[in-house]
Amino acid sequence: MADFPMSPAAEAGASGPGGNPLRALTLDQLRRRTSSKWRAYPPDVLPLWVAEMDVPLPGPVVRALTEAIALGDTGYATGEEYTRALGGFARRRWGWDGVVPGRTALVPDVMHGVVEMLRLVTDPGDAVVVNPPVYPPFFGALRHAGRRIVEAPLNAAGRIDPTAVEGAFAKAVAGGRRAACLLCSPHNPTGAVHSRAELAAVAEPAAAYGVRMVVDEIHAPLVRPGTRFVPYLSVPGTEGAFALLSASKAWHLAGAKAALAVAGAGAADELARLPSMVGEGASHLGVIAHVAALRHGEPWLDALLAGIDGNRRLLGELLDRYLPDVRYVPPEGTYLAWLDCRALGLGDDPAAVFLERGRVALSSGIPFGTGGAGHVRLNLAASPEVITEAVRRMAKAVG
Ligand SMILES: Cc1ncc(COP(=O)(O)O)c(C=O)c1O
Repeated sequence: MADFPMSPAAEAGASGPGGNPLRALTLDQLRRRTSSKWRAYPPDVLPLWVAEMDVPLPGPVVRALTEAIALGDTGYATGEEYTRALGGFARRRWGWDGVVPGRTALVPDVMHGVVEMLRLVTDPGDAVVVNPPVYPPFFGALRHAGRRIVEAPLNAAGRIDPTAVEGAFAKAVAGGRRAACLLCSPHNPTGAVHSRAELAAVAEPAAAYGVRMVVDEIHAPLVRPGTRFVPYLSVPGTEGAFALLSASKAWHLAGAKAALAVAGAGAADELARLPSMVGEGASHLGVIAHVAALRHGEPWLDALLAGIDGNRRLLGELLDRYLPDVRYVPPEGTYLAWLDCRALGLGDDPAAVFLERGRVALSSGIPFGTGGAGHVRLNLAASPEVITEAVRRMAKAVG
């Protein structure tokens, strides 16, 4: 252990009152952060937009990074440590043993991994199916890669619509072109944790139409207690698919870049063709942090999940009381709440009104694509006090 002075929160093992990491830092401490969440808006705005969490890092991650820095262990990433650490986590957590050397590749982050997988299986001009409303950078990444976007919107419950998926697959392969589908599992922004049956209802037409699946599983560790995450590659008939996993969302490590691409048994040869410079884009410090989180961060993760679950319930109570016209289905996964604000009469972009009149920053639903207008996304990875103040500000903006 290096003899570096640590912040009081890090010394305390990164948990707050009641062991809840979401209560470990004060608003004043958080406002000293220089990341996107805290610097995009003036200081009078309460930020609950981008998917960063208001937590200190778990003790094992702080120690691993501190030791690496003290040692100058800041060279290039190498080896299979990420694969082994994620493989162990996947076995313990999901009873899945599909993360093994020979079927994985280090990538700089999930979004770069997504684009690289799509490059392996499609060409510019080919179609990629997405399920809006969905994580906005999907659209930007596909446009940047020159792929055509074909939509299979979610159903009214915010879940996969098998009929829409099959129709989109048929459209995507029309003309004999190669095609892929970029699935978000669990789904950002609705928090749907796709069941095995729902995943099978995508896998079957994907196989039938020859659509290659690329599945973004970055939110996989973040499911509410009692809900089971099903890895896409554990579903029968998914040998030709790719999944992208990372410790970045669940342990607040987006600034420590690293992620893993995992191939199904039938796609390992394609993954092996990934140029080595892709993996070289991952940060060695990122790999060290992610490995420490995956190996030693489960107690902290469980405390976090309990805190998020408390916030899910709290948000429901606050909305019932102050904004009963907002429709909210507590999410099964992610720390994001997708709020249907159409009954408030604030137009397509209620987030703009909440920001202007309430000084609270939520994500606008519009960039999430079809089905996003009139909605906002609220980040639940904050203290109960911040969530309470956010709803108070939203109510003030309306009333
Ligand atoms: C579904 C989804 N994919 C990818 C990302 C970004 O991951 P990365 O920073 O590893 O590219 C996010 C971030 O919130 C996300 O929600």
